[in-house]
Amino acid sequence: MIYAKITGWGKCIPPASITNDEISSVVDTNDEWISTRTGIRSRHVSHVSTAELATVASKHALACAGLEGKDIDLVLLATCTPSTMVANTASLVQKNIGAVGAAACDTNAACSGFLYALQNATAQIQAGMIKKAVVVAAERMTWYVNWTKRDSAVLFGDGAGAVVLEASDTPCGLLATKTGCDSEDRSILHIANYGTDMDRIAGNGPSDLSFEGREIFKRAVKGMSEACDDVLNQAQLSLCDIDVLVPHQANLRIIQAIQNRLEIEDDKVMVNIDKYGNTSAATVAIAICEAVEKGLIKPHSNIMSAAFGAGLTWAASYIKWGDRVTPLTHSDAKLPPCNQTGLELIAPAVKACQQA
Ligand code: UT7
Repeated sequence: MIYAKITGWGKCIPPASITNDEISSVVDTNDEWISTRTGIRSRHVSHVSTAELATVASKHALACAGLEGKDIDLVLLATCTPSTMVANTASLVQKNIGAVGAAACDTNAACSGFLYALQNATAQIQAGMIKKAVVVAAERMTWYVNWTKRDSAVLFGDGAGAVVLEASDTPCGLLATKTGCDSEDRSILHIANYGTDMDRIAGNGPSDLSFEGREIFKRAVKGMSEACDDVLNQAQLSLCDIDVLVPHQANLRIIQAIQNRLEIEDDKVMVNIDKYGNTSAATVAIAICEAVEKGLIKPHSNIMSAAFGAGLTWAASYIKWGDRVTPLTHSDAKLPPCNQTGLELIAPAVKACQQA
């Protein structure tokens, strides 16, 4: 049996950020509402493209695995905010990291995208089709934000996370997984006409996220909890076998509801929504990196991860960590400097949304 071991991990957080107090100068909101209703205190705004975020995260993951781009057979980029759609954004990441021989493909399953891509790359390794893959999730969610809509404007942020997978004889990596999509309710979370439905002459004006928060909240808790149960059954594990829960970071209250349903203790749950908000597909990838950095993920940890997003897509994954929690080497890859504040970066979009 071939397994797909996670041998590298890396992230890229753009430097500029916007605190809750700062965002309150743009939309009618306040720190008290945002932090108590969502757990978010700040979010990062990217001054560079999705491809650049993905490139830096991937280079860190490669160095962590002690590999170079040329060693990689497949680059999968999970994103719903691609830099370009033709050519796909993964092809630019493939070029930037020097993965000259690798296949490259974008995966759009919104917030569940990283776990979908992890499943896909793992399956290709297990089938013997490839030996090494980079699975990277990168998002510029702030690009979609309508800065006149307080219900959604406060929630999203930008960032990227990546892992390297390598074929291994040791039972580790993604060992059980379940993905799905409740398309009946896809309208409760969508951006109308972004894609070829858009009027190609007039354009659409500022993107407008249709967002029924309460309905999404309920479905997210149910969808992720049930997917976790399914994965536990598949893996023939019980909850006490799980060392770490790495959930999608959309709302602290959703995380706590899942945690309560699964009866998992606080100190086993990875939470970083306070710093980043909802970075869609990137939340789980960034959270895995930070769980390793802070010692929550240890050698051979049993990790449960779950995600939920537009589609309505959902996913849960049981991941067995390998024997290493320290990088083999380090990369000096970094983003170009940013000479603007978060508020300055979003100012043109804020103005356009207010005038639309
Ligand atoms: O990653 C994809 C998955 N996404 C999610 O899972 C997000 C799921 N949904 C949520 O996280 C929550 O539903 C929200 C955070 C979006 C909203 O929280 P809520 O507790 O469900 O609030 P609500 O939408 O029911 O609104 C309650 C009140 C309303 O005022 P009234 O009608 O009671 O007077 C809203 O107008 O809160 C008001 N409100 C705000 N107030 C201050 C909504 N947004 C804000 C805001 N600041 N930013």
